[in-house]
Amino acid sequence: MVSQLSEAVLDVIADALVDKGYIFLPELIPHPISQVLLEKIQTTEIHELKAASIGRGAEQQLNPDIRRDRIQWLEEQSEPDSLYLDLMTQLKDGLNRRLFMGLFDYESHYAVYQPGAFYKKHVDALKGSQNRILTTVFFLNPDWTPADCGELIIYDEADNEIERITPKMGHFVIFLSERFPHEVTKTQAQRNSIAGWFRVSNSMHGF
Ligand code: OGA
Ligand code: MN
Repeated sequence: MVSQLSEAVLDVIADALVDKGYIFLPELIPHPISQVLLEKIQTTEIHELKAASIGRGAEQQLNPDIRRDRIQWLEEQSEPDSLYLDLMTQLKDGLNRRLFMGLFDYESHYAVYQPGAFYKKHVDALKGSQNRILTTVFFLNPDWTPADCGELIIYDEADNEIERITPKMGHFVIFLSERFPHEVTKTQAQRNSIAGWFRVSNSMHGF
């Protein structure tokens, strides 16, 4: 499976990031790839995923009052992860060519939110302490209904809600990691996503 993000789509994404700092794309990832990613998550037992923690390094801790998803990091060596990671490399290179963002690498994890799980409002990049520049979230839930809740709500810097994204199969969102607080509302059904972060290299930030 070889697939290519078009130059036209990369233009649209780059323009939106400059104009407003985020973009919601109802379909970016080709269906055959979404399908194999979904199959992988559906055939992974919940106990094979690890409880997600908050904070970094020595500060890292489990905090079920803040987040209750279970995660598994994607790996370049395994399919279908490599198919998704290849598209993210195209996105990184396309944005670097257009915006000179200096994006250096990408880390991402599958996340499963079981019924009752949520992730309280947070920002992905604590000012200065992390090198996460751009967040992506991709959803893998084929039969989502409004009653299932589990929306991803994105806020602006003044804490006004600016976007409420249904975690439906194919939905994809990209936003500047430092700028947009966001939360996952309590889900009523199992909710699958892939959250990822483009980073700049530490040396470029002088850490
Ligand atoms: C995260 C996150 C949202 C989602 O992992 O930081 O905000 O919908 N995830 O998975
Ligand atoms: Mn987040």
